[in-house]
Amino acid sequence: MDHFELKNGELYAENVPLARIAEEVGTPVYVYSRATLERHARVFREGLSVLPRVHCAFAVKANPNLAVLKVMQREGFGADVVSGGEMARALAAGMPAQDVVFSGVGKNARELAQGLEAGIGQFNIESEEEGVELAAIAAAKGLTASCALRVNPDVDAGTHEKISTGKAENKFGVPIDRAPGIYARLAAMPGLDMRGVAVHIGSQLSDLEPMERAFEKVGSLVSDLRGQGLTVTHVDLGGGLGVPYKAGEIMPSPAEYGAMIARVTKDWDVTLMFEPGRVIAGNAGILLTRVIRVKRSSNGPPFVIVDAAMNDLARPALYGSWHDFDAVKPRGGKMTANIVGPICETGDTFAMGREIDTMEAGDLAVFRTAGAYGATMASSYNSRGFVAEVMVDGDVYATVADRILPEDIYAAERVPDWLS
Ligand code: LLP
Repeated sequence: MDHFELKNGELYAENVPLARIAEEVGTPVYVYSRATLERHARVFREGLSVLPRVHCAFAVKANPNLAVLKVMQREGFGADVVSGGEMARALAAGMPAQDVVFSGVGKNARELAQGLEAGIGQFNIESEEEGVELAAIAAAKGLTASCALRVNPDVDAGTHEKISTGKAENKFGVPIDRAPGIYARLAAMPGLDMRGVAVHIGSQLSDLEPMERAFEKVGSLVSDLRGQGLTVTHVDLGGGLGVPYKAGEIMPSPAEYGAMIARVTKDWDVTLMFEPGRVIAGNAGILLTRVIRVKRSSNGPPFVIVDAAMNDLARPALYGSWHDFDAVKPRGGKMTANIVGPICETGDTFAMGREIDTMEAGDLAVFRTAGAYGATMASSYNSRGFVAEVMVDGDVYATVADRILPEDIYAAERVPDWLS
């Protein structure tokens, strides 16, 4: 459930008309609903309330905006980060370092040191090589890194191939059958406190069954490790819960997810950690756009050309993903159209032959479910700059990221003397 609803014939974000935001901030603009973020955070936690010890870390990659992170911090979430930049943001938003988990297959020496110096709660190590490097850096600093070993359970998550992470051929984690040896070797190194195991098999999962299979494998691993006399106090079950992108689509609920996990993990006796991103932020944001013009086509539906493009919302171009597209002030009728942006490539297409609200030049519309993997994946391709982001809270809103103009971007570029 979200708080982007029609009231008196026009779309609102909570109690603020989207038309007002478009007027005052301009388009395209991402709009987040604080109430929706909070609701999703609470429903997620509530779903896990059947579990004894839980730590939730919001996956910063889904939406790293400082205001969004602040909402999550106030909801008691930590942060799952995958770069030094995300770590800095999480800390800047006020997340306690202890509540930060550092994932990622390519953490470099500088980032490992940054995490150690900040005193983050857990490093999710993705290879033996990374563990050895972290141990050396930690020992040299006289510090100890709390670590989990990320395992690759070789399970097909049944999601888009580009966001699947738990198959043997994916780059993530160590093969689960090699995990006992690697864990034992790392646990013997000064500088490391091996305290658990981590797993994440992919994103936008619409079925709990592959997760359950992966978690069962992790359960056997935990027993094996303990059987070898190794300590396991934490298991990080990652993120991945899917969200509905189409009106009416049904996804597993946090309550069903929690019930499945309670069943699988009942004998584990560990603190369970979670890294949800999309399920919290996805439906808490929209991308508000204006129709530039409607262009007739010679042999198909008209092109509705909007002022947002693939550089602002990359998901349709990258993964062929669907985002519902609705008029802010529906005119009543329907039309079939191709929805495209202004960028000079055919990939800049949001939908082909889609039945949508009737649109005319100048009309406002939204792409829904753009709160996760939206603004954060933007680029400045075609020198379009970066769009503004707004957060609504009841009757008020604030700009939480300024629009970055093309001239701001090229101000960081230089023409060397020998060219001028
Ligand atoms: N933990 C780890 C280790 C991850 O790799 C991810 C996502 C998450 C947590 C959060 O997953 P979530 O709960 O959001 O599904 N750009 C793609 C999604 C990439 C997800 C990458 N990893 C998209 O737009 O669909």
